[in-house]
Formats: sequence, C-alpha cells, structure tokens
Amino acid sequence: MVRESILLALVALPTSTLSLHTSPGLPFVINTWGGPFTAATDAAYLALINSATVSALDAVEIGCATCERNQCDGTVGFGGSPDESCETTLDAMIMDGTTMKSGAVAGLRRVKHAIAVARAVLHHTRHSLLVGDLATQFAVENGFVEENLSTEESKRRCEEWRARNCQANYRMNVEPDPSTSCGPYKPLPLDQSALAWAVAQNPEPPSHDTISMVAIHSSGAMAAGTSTNGASFKVPGRVGDGPIVGSGSYVDGDVGGCGATGDGDIMMRFLPCYQAVENLRRGMSPTEAAEDAVRRMLRKYPDISSGIVVVNKKGDHGAAASGWTFTYAYRGGEMNATAVVTVPPLTAKDEL
Ligand SMILES: *[C@@H]1O[C@H](CO)[C@@H](O)[C@H](O)[C@H]1NC(C)=O
Ligand SMILES: *[C@@H]1O[C@H](CO)[C@@H](O)[C@H](O)[C@H]1NC(C)=O
Repeated sequence: MVRESILLALVALPTSTLSLHTSPGLPFVINTWGGPFTAATDAAYLALINSATVSALDAVEIGCATCERNQCDGTVGFGGSPDESCETTLDAMIMDGTTMKSGAVAGLRRVKHAIAVARAVLHHTRHSLLVGDLATQFAVENGFVEENLSTEESKRRCEEWRARNCQANYRMNVEPDPSTSCGPYKPLPLDQSALAWAVAQNPEPPSHDTISMVAIHSSGAMAAGTSTNGASFKVPGRVGDGPIVGSGSYVDGDVGGCGATGDGDIMMRFLPCYQAVENLRRGMSPTEAAEDAVRRMLRKYPDISSGIVVVNKKGDHGAAASGWTFTYAYRGGEMNATAVVTVPPLTAKDEL
C-alpha cells in the first residue's frame, strides 16, 4: 500500500494544475499526510466499500485506529512523542456531521485506542471531553485495557533529549534557562519583551504530526476525527488542538469537513477547521477555504507550521499549508488506490 502511494505521489501533477480537486465520487475518505498515513485512508475507504453497515463514524474510527495500532510515523498512538517525563499520552476526538455530536479524550494515559475511547464518550455520555487519569478510568469502565504506552524507542528518544540538555523545550520565562538547561523550572517575573512571540518558535518541527480524517458515506453522511500523541517533550499535561472541536477537525454534513495538523498550541487559538467549514458554507472552494484559514494564522504567526485538508459534502477537496511541505491522502468513488497530493507552503510574504 505504501509503495502504491509513493508511485502515485511521484506521478502526481504539480498542485497548481490541480487546484480544483473534483470529487472521485462517494464514498470518500481524506486525511492529513501521505506515506504511512495512507494505510489509514485505505482502511477507512475499504471498510466503507466492503460493508453496507459501516457508517462514516465507523470509517473515521477504523482509519484513525489504524494509525494508533501501526504508529504511522510515530506521531499517533503509543510509543511516540514522550513528554518531559518520558510518558506518552494520547489526544483524540471524533465528530458526527449529521448530529454535530462529538466525543473526545485528552491527556489519556495508559490506553492505546484513544479514538475508540473518544467514540465511547460520544455514545455513552452527554459530555464532549474527558481528560487524564479520569479519562483512563472511564476507558477501563468501558472495557479498554490499561497498557504501557512507552516503548524502548520512546524511552531512548527521551533519554537522548535529556542528554542534550532537554532541547528543544517548550518552557519560557522560567529559570534555569530552558534553552540550555533541564528542569525543574521556577517561573520568572514576566518581561513584556519576551512574552509575545516566544511560543511561535518552532522547537522541533516534525514532532507534531497528527492524523485528522474526514469520511463521507455513500449516503452522504459525514464524520471527522483526529488522533495524536501530541508534541514531543511537551510539558506534562499539555493538550494540543487534536481533541478540540473546530481545531483538530470539524464536520457539518450539510456543508463539508476539515482536518488539521501542525503547531497545535497556536492552531487551537484560531479554530482553523471551524473557519474552513464556515468558509465553504459562504461559497469558497475547498482550496480557498483552506488557504483563508491558514492565512488567518500566518498573519499573526508567520513561522507557524500548519496543514489543513478540506472537503465539501460532494467530495471535492483541497488543502493549504504553512511552514512545511504538507501532503494529504484521499480515496473515493472507484479509485483503485489512495492518491497523495503535495501542498507547498503559503508564506507570510503572501500576506504583505
Ligand atoms: C514501560 O515500558 C518501558 C519501555 O519498555 C519500560 O522501560 C518501563 O519500565 C515500562 N513501565 C512499566 C510501568 O511497566
Ligand atoms: C482499476 O483497476 C482495473 C483493473 O485492474 C482497471 O481496469 C481500471 O482502469 C483501474 N481504474 C483506475 C481508476 O485506476
């Protein structure tokens, strides 16, 4: 599957000639990132094609769970993105575009299948978001098993991070100096000059990928979801954009859906997926809707890394990115394989 997608990526035309990505038909699945993430696209698409009883919500769960099991590029599921204490915690959210119901977990500890726990929140509570150890307790009540989310690989990455004086590092305005030293840290009096843009610095660009997926059932019903293990070497307790409705993903089956990845700490301040779906509602194409959402962030944070995929209810799709070359994967209609689209970054200069 990976080999097929690489071939497709190689033969893909430059995106400029493909800016109108028309729908290949329904059912349809789209998600952030190509490469190993195409296994998720295929799993979700094939589930929709092969069984009449698989819903759009099921497909999103199946797709995201594929990355949680095989770890995709290490940024989803167990054994990735250790925090300062070397622990891996998971964030996930799933949303039903028909009812607008959503379920999410954040900072989930010791349970591997975050997207399935998020779905249990959707179906078995009237809430939208459970966090931390108490989300773990809820998961166990719902039949999930507690497991160690650390692996030899995540332990090694964390030890290497400590050996390089805990660089890169998300702390600011603390002592000892977080750009040269490990903690424990104490807060410093706030210096206005240091405050405003420090978080825009990107400590380790490739560390915050995420799978965000939108699925459209042949009936037209839509769902969206996100699963991630967050940012590497984050401050323990940190929750990113993944489990936030309208940020990590969003869907309104009357209009379309969106999935996001990138600097979640910043992106969650802009609700880019809510923005993109509202842009669709107001008549923009998927590409225009995505570009507008990314530009809103770029205007304030010129160094932000972001990538968002947008699809309307017919399956026409588009994307936009900043700070990195983004890829996304999709498969729909009668496509024999998942296609990967490369999206060059918009730059802050485009805003001048
Ligand atoms: C979890 O796995 C890691 C890596 O194999 C190991 O170092 C650690 O001791 C384990 N933790 C527990 C609580 O079993
Ligand atoms: C899919 O595969 C079939 C049989 O191998 C082939 O005839 C068809 O052209 C392929 N369709 C696409 C869209 O590649």
